[in-house]
Amino acid sequence: MKDRTFVKKKVESSKKLPGDFVKKLLVFNDLNSTNTVAKELARTGAEEGTVVIARTQNHGRGRFERVWQSPEGGMYLSLILRPKAPLEKASLLSFVAALAVTRTIDAYGIHASIKWPNDVRVNGKKIAGILLESEITGFVIDYAVVGIGINLNIDLADLSSDIQSHSTSLSSLVNIPVDYHEFLKTFLEQFGSLYSTFRNRQFDSIITEWKSRTDTLGKMIQVQTSTEMLQGTAFDIDQLGFLLLRTGNGELKKISSGDCQYLNELDHA
Ligand code: BTN
Repeated sequence: MKDRTFVKKKVESSKKLPGDFVKKLLVFNDLNSTNTVAKELARTGAEEGTVVIARTQNHGRGRFERVWQSPEGGMYLSLILRPKAPLEKASLLSFVAALAVTRTIDAYGIHASIKWPNDVRVNGKKIAGILLESEITGFVIDYAVVGIGINLNIDLADLSSDIQSHSTSLSSLVNIPVDYHEFLKTFLEQFGSLYSTFRNRQFDSIITEWKSRTDTLGKMIQVQTSTEMLQGTAFDIDQLGFLLLRTGNGELKKISSGDCQYLNELDHA
């Protein structure tokens, strides 16, 4: 289906592209969702390194079919990837994106942590989220779209109250507006560098850096998977990025995907 917003509202296509990764940068004022548009472009042959970015989204999508509220001031972008990597390593692409965000935030003197698998948080509040969507043909990754939403300069009051209480923004942490283009440039450079590591199959290096950035390991957590709710201690991740959880009765669970919450942060009514 044709995305009319995409046709109507493209505002610029930059000639000066940051880093080696970006081949084409498509910038829009407003889209339904940069991931939806990027997937459509990927399906119709867009090359790796195509980046779709929007100033606002009117149907931003989060993990587990949640809405990603996307007011002005945020950064909303999706990257098209065509990695020639083993299928089972695909989920590490979301680690690559989360690490690129944390490295970029470092440049502002702020330490961001990762909550498994890829929520980027500062002082326990979410500053960025990542949505990885891929198309597999046979045993090969045809394309992957990694979507990143970053609370850069958003006014937290523009978020609904339930989301607001768990969110922060970079501008509120540094007390000044953050230069959008500077942040984007650094992020794309960091992403390009980490993605080269991925393409060179140095998966251990990605896992090691992710472990140095997470605050999940060692915590008592609960994880909602597609089939069950599990509680226990997060004690490690494996080479595919799956979470290893030890439950109360000593059982070991390996979790490929799920919604993770720290027990000490749950609201007890
Ligand atoms: C999450 O934490 O649930 C993931 C949020 C991902 C949001 C980004 S914003 C850019 C891209 N387009 C979307 O519709 N979603 C992702």
